[in-house]
Amino acid sequence: MTNNTSAAGNSAIGIHDLSFATTEFVLPHTALADYNGTEIGKYHLGIGQRSMSVPAADEDIVTLGAAAAAPIIARHGAEGIRTVVFATESSIDQAKSAGVYVHSLLGLPSAARVVELKQACYGATAALQFAIGLVHRDPGHRVLVIASDVSKYDLDSPGEATQGAAAVAMLIGADPALVRIEGPSGLFTADVMDFWRPNYRDTALVDGQDSINAYLQAAQGAWKDYTEQGGRALEEFSAFCYHQPFTKMAYKAHRHLLNYCGHEVDEATVARHIGQTTAYNSVVGNSYTASVYLALAALLDRADDMTGQAIGFLSYGSGSVAEFFGGTVVPGYREHLRTAAHREAIERRKPVDYARYRALHERSFPADGGDHPTPSETTGPFRLAGLRDHKRLYESR
Ligand code: CAA
Repeated sequence: MTNNTSAAGNSAIGIHDLSFATTEFVLPHTALADYNGTEIGKYHLGIGQRSMSVPAADEDIVTLGAAAAAPIIARHGAEGIRTVVFATESSIDQAKSAGVYVHSLLGLPSAARVVELKQACYGATAALQFAIGLVHRDPGHRVLVIASDVSKYDLDSPGEATQGAAAVAMLIGADPALVRIEGPSGLFTADVMDFWRPNYRDTALVDGQDSINAYLQAAQGAWKDYTEQGGRALEEFSAFCYHQPFTKMAYKAHRHLLNYCGHEVDEATVARHIGQTTAYNSVVGNSYTASVYLALAALLDRADDMTGQAIGFLSYGSGSVAEFFGGTVVPGYREHLRTAAHREAIERRKPVDYARYRALHERSFPADGGDHPTPSETTGPFRLAGLRDHKRLYESR
């Protein structure tokens, strides 16, 4: 077994606080099934999804990211936050980091570096690891990691049922209150075209079954490297947070890993390892790079006391990059959870009917540089007020 704190030398570094936000609206899968004639069991049982978060016309990755991060700043202040890393694969600008808008909306100090990271759904894990490196160099440094995505597939395509949107913000620092992140990491990269989104498209392209196989191969490759780097044995982990493009994918991946490790695939064990991690993703949908940390939020919010227990993380980003790493839950973590706020973020969403969802999906800004205000729809703390001279205009409430 590896040294639990080896990523941080002798000091513990990890997730000090975690908060998530999701959208104003929600589409139940029953509404999608009624529209397209799909047997609802395919959505509820086959892919493990019950509803999808739908952004209002005045919400995007910036407003979601700022809404996720604002409670962290309210609790801890901005002191020591010298780096903001914004991970996304649904970027709003080819040049400017979405994090700079969030930095401004949150009133963070100008003495900060802000950057956007992309590698499909893996970006937030890269951000987490880079943050750990920065804190290792200067233990007084705190890094705000924001993972924010709106997942969008073509209407009437197989991927449509796996859409969603959410942002997770995490404060990374020394002596974390929630989860210590361990070394080593198991890494895997392969040049595959399972899922991608060319710059000229709003919606992702995907080869569905290939993408599932690519995920499984990457999970296996990352695990293999993890063990070769001296990582923990599989049975040392109490729970596993997988990237969840749809929640049944976590089950597929975990069964695959158990098989690969020569373990019997006992469904009760699979459910014990995965069951608590899917609660938020099953009603939010695919939040791309946020999803593995939404799985962590659900686990910590719902499981019985996990103090001292090891959690395995499998982050996968199509294209593809995967990473397996471990973390240990810190004594006293329950006092720092945001369980009530997380439930409220889910429950406050207003259901929309299929026609409204479709109209929101089809909405896009004209590219003429004109003045295009957005309708005031969100009741969240930040809104995208519109587009003028090709510039996005944001407002705080
Ligand atoms: N009752 C219960 N189960 C049912 C059912 C019913 N009435 N009807 C079908 N099912 C089951 C099927 O048996 C199948 O289960 P298994 O996978 O266990 O065999 C499941 O429901 C899905 O059925 P299909 O495979 O027929 O569904 P589909 O062809 O419509 O596509 C999908 C499913 C490929 C996941 C599609 O939604 C898709 O393309 N999604 C986007 C891509 C994706 O999420 N890929 C995941 C890996 S890539 C990644 O992780 C990165 C990322 O975030 C995108």
